Amino acid sequence: MTLRSVVLGCGSYLPRQILTNAELASRIDTSDEWIVQRTGIKQRHIAAEGEFTSHLAINAARAALEHAGVDAQSIDLIVLATSTPDNTFPATAVAVQNGLGIHHGAAFDLQAVCSGFVFALATADNFLRGGAYKRALVIGAETFSRILDWNDRGTCVLFGDGAGAVVLEAQQQGGAASDRGILTAHLRSDGQHKSKLYVDGGPSSSQTVGYLRMEGREVFKHAVGMITDVIVDALNATGLSVEDINWFIPHQANKRIIDASAHKLHIAPQKVVLTVDRHGNTSAASIPLALDVAVKDGRVKKGDLLLLEAMGGGFTWGSVLLRW
Ligand code: ACO
Repeated sequence: MTLRSVVLGCGSYLPRQILTNAELASRIDTSDEWIVQRTGIKQRHIAAEGEFTSHLAINAARAALEHAGVDAQSIDLIVLATSTPDNTFPATAVAVQNGLGIHHGAAFDLQAVCSGFVFALATADNFLRGGAYKRALVIGAETFSRILDWNDRGTCVLFGDGAGAVVLEAQQQGGAASDRGILTAHLRSDGQHKSKLYVDGGPSSSQTVGYLRMEGREVFKHAVGMITDVIVDALNATGLSVEDINWFIPHQANKRIIDASAHKLHIAPQKVVLTVDRHGNTSAASIPLALDVAVKDGRVKKGDLLLLEAMGGGFTWGSVLLRW
């Protein structure tokens, strides 16, 4: 017998306001056709004034707790992945913890940009399998609309706001690949690429929040290779093959990157969960948002093998194989 982190439930939250490509085209020099053709994005959600990352995260967490059928008081670990915290400090995770009425255990933020949710899952998984905590909320929540330069058409059309969460529980399992839970996680980073996708501000460097800057072509050039590398690592570590995967739930950055990665790995298009058209790139929130859509519409069923992957600023990248 061995301890495994098993997903008990998931939830998500999207701000009410939707920003379409047509609305963007009325403000800046772009078009629906250009955005859809290059990215697959048709619309994104934008947080309301006064609506913070913690508010989105709390809503997603409540939905996940309800779906899991567990009480907030049973949570003893919160790991929140975000690059758009409410404040420089304290961690947005403690605002979420407080908002849920939890005053025990530990809560902290994790910063790995678009790979944040995969990094957060792997982190919580280690704490649960190590026996330090029993039940965790793993959340990805972002308000990227607040760090966009709305005059930069090369970046502002790509991102959106939202949050997603899962409840993970440490359970004794036989340890086989057919047992439920997180089977393996593979994390990577390489800071030599840090200037290709970054925010040009921060408390220590400029004492400002700053705006997102990106060399889109450079990101694109590296993305598919990095994504497929960590997926191959995950398959090799478990002895599973691409045919065993029921659902591929990638970070929703760009449809072309997702299509190219799936194609390179020979993952059938009907196994790919796509939400980038509706959500845009919500960074650390994109995987749990997509997961929640596929679970709630009935595609993901108990016992299915899910492959999650992400790549983002840093660069950071990673994969998780998980039995639902
Ligand atoms: N509307 C119209 N034209 C635009 C827009 C826009 N929104 N943005 C850029 N252009 C123009 C450029 O000005 C340029 O014009 P020029 O030829 O007259 O100079 C032309 O389109 C081509 O610009 P590129 O930046 O070379 O366009 P590209 O084909 O590379 O597409 C894109 C840009 C979509 C950003 C692409 O590089 C990409 O998908 N990169 C991956 C980056 C990504 O997805 N990042 C998300 C964050 S990272 C992550 O989550 C993994």
